[in-house]
Amino acid sequence: MSDVLQVEVWRGAATGKFQTFAIARREHQTILDVVTEIQREHDATLSYRFACRVGMCGSCAMVVNGRPRWTCRTRVREVADGGRLRLEPLRNFAVVKDLAVEMTQFFDKWKAAHGYFEPGPRPAADFAVVPPASPERQAADAGIECIGCGVCYSACDVVAWDEDYLGPAVLNRAWTLVNDVRDRDTDRLSAISGSDGCQACHTHMSCTSFCPKAIAPTYAIGGLKRMVLRRAWRGTP
Ligand code: SF4
Ligand code: SF4
Ligand code: FES
Repeated sequence: MSDVLQVEVWRGAATGKFQTFAIARREHQTILDVVTEIQREHDATLSYRFACRVGMCGSCAMVVNGRPRWTCRTRVREVADGGRLRLEPLRNFAVVKDLAVEMTQFFDKWKAAHGYFEPGPRPAADFAVVPPASPERQAADAGIECIGCGVCYSACDVVAWDEDYLGPAVLNRAWTLVNDVRDRDTDRLSAISGSDGCQACHTHMSCTSFCPKAIAPTYAIGGLKRMVLRRAWRGTP
């Protein structure tokens, strides 16, 4: 194993080129460690984003050797075939600069899909008791640990074809909320059922394969599709 990594890093925005850095290989080194070393020791103008470094905030995602990943929890030894790394910004996002992408459209879609808890006009005075074994609680719990990293969105071919498609992360969030028995939103299914909503998903499974939190947006989207169909059969507007 070579003790030096050859790291190609995207420099620029929509147009640009790769710049190669030689970085010492270290035990337990993560991809984020490599990017940080480049910025601190080689080129202070390199732009990238991170916050927590422990897999909580979702801000460090990039494309690493062709695949979107969270970089703070990805060790170099898992991905650096032959001591080479190619780091690119997430796909399906506009690039601000280098490895930093613009997340506004992603979070605007979150809002459009009512991806927030709605307590209703008179929120309950006490804590709700939601049995852990109930099917609704189980469905919501399966998707609740999303950190909003955008890895699934970057991996989704339908987002690449149709930039208005809501995408897997937002639809997964909607699924957790429609299964939250405390939530009082009555329009969420309408918000996610248009031509750019859950019906547009082609069930490619890329989102589910790549999610670093082992969430399965594909199954959440399948659940939303069934819910929307059931509502249509019943004639509910
Ligand atoms: S579903 Fe997974 S991949 Fe998608 S934003 Fe959430 S944590 Fe990231
Ligand atoms: S399963 Fe659906 S949302 Fe997930 S990557 Fe495929 S098309 Fe996109
Ligand atoms: S830096 Fe927060 S998830 Fe990686």
